[in-house]
Amino acid sequence: DKDRVLRIHESLEELSTDLADYIAELSEASVKERGVFSIALSGGSVINLMGKLCEAPYNKTVDWAKWYIFWADERVVAKSHADSNYKLAKDNLLSKVPIIPSHVHSINDSVSAEEAADEYKFVIRQLVKSRIVSVSDVSDSPKFDLILLGMGSDGHVASLFPDHSVLEEKDEWVTFITNSPKPPPERITFTLPVINSASNVAIVVTGENKAETVHLAIDDVGPDCPLLPARLVQPKKGKLAWFLDKYAAWKLDNY
Ligand code: 6PG
Repeated sequence: DKDRVLRIHESLEELSTDLADYIAELSEASVKERGVFSIALSGGSVINLMGKLCEAPYNKTVDWAKWYIFWADERVVAKSHADSNYKLAKDNLLSKVPIIPSHVHSINDSVSAEEAADEYKFVIRQLVKSRIVSVSDVSDSPKFDLILLGMGSDGHVASLFPDHSVLEEKDEWVTFITNSPKPPPERITFTLPVINSASNVAIVVTGENKAETVHLAIDDVGPDCPLLPARLVQPKKGKLAWFLDKYAAWKLDNY
């Protein structure tokens, strides 16, 4: 299936270069097609792994002014806090390339989780109306050009954790949780309908401690398989790419 690909790499260095190439290509295609590129980031190691984008040649060749930045999930903490996904992206990426500040749609850190989720929904709705973010052809859901995800060793993606009721969400685009098993407890997250409406989703996973989860998330492991959130990432019309290093990939059936 050409819409589901595994990009497995010998080293983090190789993975980082491939990830930068992939993002740069999607950005170019999207800018050519619709004049803008809408990208949603996550927290965790994926931000450092996309760091090559701040270096030559990408820092000069990517059309940064056309980028609109969102977050697939955010922790409900101040933007200056070490746990903030916004801060991580700002320090390691956004401050190093000429992104237009008004295109950075981070989540409000001065209101409650519920209010911040509502506000974020509103912002996304406005940007869907103006077609900065495309709209899905199967529902009224936003169709981000790219959603970048990491995966925890429990199989969570964004702030969608195993067995959490949020996995059942069918209507909301964005929601908040107050009981994240991974601290901090309060988080804002894209829901599965939004993730699965994207044009492209990339899940970036490295390290041997995630190898078993990668196997359970990707391979055909039968009906007894635990329902991992990462397994539920199945873009309806879009493409899914897994970026793995060889340590995360070694338990895959076909590796
Ligand atoms: C978060 C992240 C989260 C992350 C994974 C993987 O806010 O907690 O968005 O979903 O991407 O936990 O993180 P690592 O790649 O650092 O393990």
